[in-house]
Amino acid sequence: MDLYLDTADLSEIKEIAAWGVLSGVTTNPSLIAKTGRPLEPTIKEICRVVQGPVSAEVISTSAPEMIAEGRRLAGIDPHVVVKLPTTIDGLKACKALSSEGIRVNMTLVFSANQALLCAKAGAWCVSPFLGRIDDISWDGMRLIQEIAEIYRVQGIATRILAASIRHPRHVAEAARLGAHIATMPARVFQQLVKHPLTEAGLEAFLRDWAKASATL
Ligand code: E4P
Repeated sequence: MDLYLDTADLSEIKEIAAWGVLSGVTTNPSLIAKTGRPLEPTIKEICRVVQGPVSAEVISTSAPEMIAEGRRLAGIDPHVVVKLPTTIDGLKACKALSSEGIRVNMTLVFSANQALLCAKAGAWCVSPFLGRIDDISWDGMRLIQEIAEIYRVQGIATRILAASIRHPRHVAEAARLGAHIATMPARVFQQLVKHPLTEAGLEAFLRDWAKASATL
């Protein structure tokens, strides 16, 4: 499973990219707005740093406008994946852009049938929003499981991008259930590597070594 950052903050992206385990980035209009910077140069710079798929979302809502905006976004850099909302117009735009060879990430997926429709429209990936489903006391992970099973049974190649991740268990569970990609905030990325037993174990190794080497 590939690990992506869900942010438009360049300093976070540079920091995690330096670990050597970052495969891509997802952004959305809220995340871009948070940077206070214009969309195009921000996406261009993220692509330069990451050199992997970078999702950039349209803000139009009608299919013809989404198609035009999607083409513009795809023109920013070959790494751009155009992100479209899962609406009827979004499906139409997905079909059109995918037919032109533009990769599409269908976002705001909250049901298996939406994921099936997105695949039929040629989406490169679908983004089920785990955390937002959990937030309303439903089971986000069950949705990942259902989509993964349908895609497997039906021989569908569209990738499952587990999104709206809130904590490290979401990442491990999504991987176990067959999601191809997980996108998460930098905070969760940091949490993935941390384990109290790793820290305590390393501390003990270094302490023992320091003691022993003093007597050598
Ligand atoms: C996905 O690509 C979205 O940008 C993101 O994961 C949404 O997460 P949120 O529910 O934490 O806003």
